[in-house]
Amino acid sequence: MHLFSYIDGSLCCEGVRLEEVAARFGTPAYVYSAGTIRENFRRLDRALAPLDRMICYAVKANSNTAILDLLVREGAGFDIVSAGELFRVLKAGGRADRCTFAGVGKTAEEIAWALKRGIYCLNVESEPELERINAVAGSLGLVAPIALRVNPDVDAHTHEFISTGKSKNKFGIGLDRAAAVYAAAAAMPHLRIRGVQTHIGSQILDAGPFAEAAGKLAGLVADIHARHGIEFFSIGGGIGIVYDHALASGAPAWWQSSDHPHRITPEDYAAAIVPVLGPLGLKILFEPGRFIVGNAGVVLSTVQYVKTTPAKTFAIVDSAMNDLIRPALYEGWHEIVPLEESRAPLVPMDVVGPVCESGDFFAQDRDLPPLAPGDRIAVLSSGAYGFVMSSNYNSRPLLPEILVDGKSMHLIRRRQSLEDLVAGETIPRTQTS
Ligand code: LLP
Repeated sequence: MHLFSYIDGSLCCEGVRLEEVAARFGTPAYVYSAGTIRENFRRLDRALAPLDRMICYAVKANSNTAILDLLVREGAGFDIVSAGELFRVLKAGGRADRCTFAGVGKTAEEIAWALKRGIYCLNVESEPELERINAVAGSLGLVAPIALRVNPDVDAHTHEFISTGKSKNKFGIGLDRAAAVYAAAAAMPHLRIRGVQTHIGSQILDAGPFAEAAGKLAGLVADIHARHGIEFFSIGGGIGIVYDHALASGAPAWWQSSDHPHRITPEDYAAAIVPVLGPLGLKILFEPGRFIVGNAGVVLSTVQYVKTTPAKTFAIVDSAMNDLIRPALYEGWHEIVPLEESRAPLVPMDVVGPVCESGDFFAQDRDLPPLAPGDRIAVLSSGAYGFVMSSNYNSRPLLPEILVDGKSMHLIRRRQSLEDLVAGETIPRTQTS
């Protein structure tokens, strides 16, 4: 669900014309819809209402503090993966005791930082990490709440870079080892076993793998509950979204869902897992990222040049792979639409950025309405893993982020300046020519 649509031929985010946003803040820019984020959160929460639940939004998907603030107001908890993300949550008014801390490589400093702030749970991915957490907690005179991330060896049917629940992936502790590692944890004096966690991957468009993972872990969870008196089971994140809304052509299977037999809704997801998770009698944690914010954001861009070669037509726009890396990194397929609705016959083109790499594209061989310099486009479904994965590559300043709420627009992060690019750099005085 999203609140981007053409009104009188002009693409709007809620009650605001995106042309107005471009005129006020310039392009390229990220624009988010507050109403979409709220509605996605509420719809998922309603679908999961039969469970005692805590929805811990995965901060990595979009960590702007204004978005986190909005979700704090909705009653969300948070799934974090670094001290930086916890810092953001706290800045936005969130509580550490509603945050779970995931990740395979937590440093001793991060563990200490989170423990001192009263983190709800550290999700542990290996035995050496368990030992480190025990030692850090002991040195602080604290008891660390922990859960093991258990790898159920389930195929999530998604892109291999974002599949995490197979035994060949670096994540979690194998199901066969989990009971022994829990026993080891129980013997460590500065740990308190609080739950069991799993996460099988991202952009999953079929409820089957979630039900399979929950089913594979249910026995272990019941056993750990009986032995160690746990409080929660977390099934992680991963609910996929629709990437092809309006002018779909040629999206590969896992980015596509409106024509695809495997299109997941929160209701399908709930129907598949509630019967397995309800009987556990535990609090169930969910860690959705993409589902909450993915369809709630777009990248606004202006066409700079249209270049025609014997092989192709290229629309060269003012945003690039450093602003949205998903097409280059995961073959991510994003719908692209002009801000002014067009009924002209579609023509095939590549939409590319100015960065010096052939991987710098948003679309290849895509049928789009003809574009001319100065035309504005929106790259849809860029709210998750968009801005957060951007970089200053090619010394391009990071984009501004604008949050639209009803008829109002708020600048929630200013565009970086050229001075920002070199802030923090020092030229050594001793440097010789
Ligand atoms: N929980 C854990 C432990 C995770 O590792 C992740 C995502 C999530 C929750 C949230 O997953 P979601 O609900 O957003 O699918 N950059 C990639 C996606 C990477 C996902 C990493 N982990 C992309 O742009 O497709």
